[in-house]
Amino acid sequence: MSQLNQRHILVAISGGIAAYKGAELVRLLKKQGAVVRVVLSRGATEFITPLTLQALSGEPTHTELLDEAAEAGMGHIELARWADLMIIAPATADVLARLAQGRADDLLTTVALATPAPVAVAPAMNQQMWSHAATQENVQLLASRNIQIIGPDAGEQACGDVGPGRLLEPDGIVAALNQRFENRQLEGKRVIITAGPTLEAIDPVRYLSNHSSGKMGYALAGACAAAGAQVALISGPVQLAPPDRVSMHPVTSAEEMCAAALSLAEGADLFIGAAAVADYRPESPASTKLKKQSGGPLTLTLVENPDIIAQVTQLPNRPALVAGFAAETTSVLVHAREKRVRKGLDMIIANDVADPQTTFGSEQNAVHLITEAGERSLPLASKRVIAEQIISALAAQLPH
Ligand code: C5P
Repeated sequence: MSQLNQRHILVAISGGIAAYKGAELVRLLKKQGAVVRVVLSRGATEFITPLTLQALSGEPTHTELLDEAAEAGMGHIELARWADLMIIAPATADVLARLAQGRADDLLTTVALATPAPVAVAPAMNQQMWSHAATQENVQLLASRNIQIIGPDAGEQACGDVGPGRLLEPDGIVAALNQRFENRQLEGKRVIITAGPTLEAIDPVRYLSNHSSGKMGYALAGACAAAGAQVALISGPVQLAPPDRVSMHPVTSAEEMCAAALSLAEGADLFIGAAAVADYRPESPASTKLKKQSGGPLTLTLVENPDIIAQVTQLPNRPALVAGFAAETTSVLVHAREKRVRKGLDMIIANDVADPQTTFGSEQNAVHLITEAGERSLPLASKRVIAEQIISALAAQLPH
């Protein structure tokens, strides 16, 4: 499957003669399964119409920074956050200069500054402009900021010159973007992940549980498999399709999850506890449906569930790395730091579930990674992007 499948790709087209190739780029990205939105600079609209891009992408084209109607639909900050990757193609000499300066004087440059997603540029300009020291210095500066430079190609130019500065053909740009998402950083590693809620039976038809959707754990499992790992996903009941190339271990209660985790985690390379395990379970679930007792209150006696991740860190042959989540509503970092130490974790991923944008079931997340060596924030992005960033951080800590 293409690495671009289901990715949110923001294509920004700036005003050069190669702008027409932006249409082909959008078409090819859609063919790979990407969800594409397009930003056109004002100059680009002289070469290609918003309607063409709208028809190809199936989404409204964005052209203005200060447009009330557009901002009411998907504003520029939302657009910046929506993207898993932004590709500016063609990127003119002027756009490269404005990006290098960090300007935000139109929609394209503003979104490029505001997005937490990776940014790539495919330059296209006259060969003399490309070779100019100013452009070359700008390109070097952008590359040093981790902006991917795709192309340019050399050859015949629209102005009649011959030399470097032609936009790389759209299929070459798509190949470069596909490669960017490909990584084999967990090649040959064995990863165990817990995800979703647990259900604790009260009687045959009722249970205690929580609002965990499993989305973060499933995104992590998918990202690990895409990075080359052999993944076992121990999942409580959720409404999600199993990720590709992941071996599924469905469970219901915390005790079942614990048994599965302890048998699979022995000797693994990485264990990630993303499940929202119920802290307590009814001491003795009724074997038949409890009847309503008119008038009086019903008392349930609850006993504590095993702390799965803390038991995993105590295994004789414990996984090389153990990471957990701390979903908190107050003093998030204080609680998370304490939990990391108490449970013997190598990393804890702190997550504010009081914030509606990052709570259970949301499509996006923003987290804070805490290890013994230091801390790092990952700003709001899709759970898929957050999962990939967490996996990169963990892969960097794994012994080779
Ligand atoms: O203590 P708390 O539930 O906040 O800890 C969160 C971390 O511990 C998560 O990684 C969660 O999967 C894990 N955990 C566990 N078993 C429990 C409770 C939490 O593995 N009984």
